[in-house]
Amino acid sequence: MNIIQLESVDSTNQYIKDHFKSLNHLDVVLTKIQTKGKGRHINQWFSNQDSLTFSILLKDNLEQKNLSLLPLLMAMVLHKVFSQYSEEVEIKWPNDIYVRNKKLSGILIESIYQNKLEAMIIGVGINLNNLDFPSDIIDQVTSLKQLTNRTYSHIDLLNQIIKIFDKNLDLLKEDKQAIIDYCNHYHLLNNQPITYKDKESIHQGKCIKINKDGNLLIDNNGELITLISGGVHKIRNK
Ligand code: BTN
Repeated sequence: MNIIQLESVDSTNQYIKDHFKSLNHLDVVLTKIQTKGKGRHINQWFSNQDSLTFSILLKDNLEQKNLSLLPLLMAMVLHKVFSQYSEEVEIKWPNDIYVRNKKLSGILIESIYQNKLEAMIIGVGINLNNLDFPSDIIDQVTSLKQLTNRTYSHIDLLNQIIKIFDKNLDLLKEDKQAIIDYCNHYHLLNNQPITYKDKESIHQGKCIKINKDGNLLIDNNGELITLISGGVHKIRNK
């Protein structure tokens, strides 16, 4: 996996979208500064030089893989790496990493279609050495440095992540249940009261688990609901 290092870019995901034809399968784009980092819900991702922001390009054999499990695979990989530094790391379906109910890392998967699926982009944002955050998110986020009082080398952590990613990528076609089992084992939401959003409104229920397809199984007053995409929050005890 080749690492392309950029001083500054709008978004590493966008850079791959714009250049995917000249980039290779498993190239990694890393930057110090993202000026327009993309997030999943509010559509922006806060980062600065203390953060680790990168994206990985997948171009080969896409038809052979269970790509819907890519977010969980990446969550598993990040969990494995962060667990070396903190024992409290949890996965939050579909693709976030939390510690003590605060977000440590987020994943944004994007696809490129031109008549057919040409490529997938796995974007990862990690609060690494950050000690300050904007006031609107300060209560919801944490960093590896805040958790462990250590300063991390961006490139060392990235190398650890891509090594484990490379080692586990074939699980997508060979043993997807291993990914699901791992994520369920460390899943922040299992057996917890949650709110979830469907097309129209917000509901309450209890999270049961991540099912064999990577969807979220929820108990809403005895009715089993399968949630295919995000918008789930744990209801905190007052
Ligand atoms: C989320 O909202 O939780 C997903 C955040 C993903 C952020 C990363 S940072 C690197 C890559 N480039 C982007 O523009 N976004 C992703």
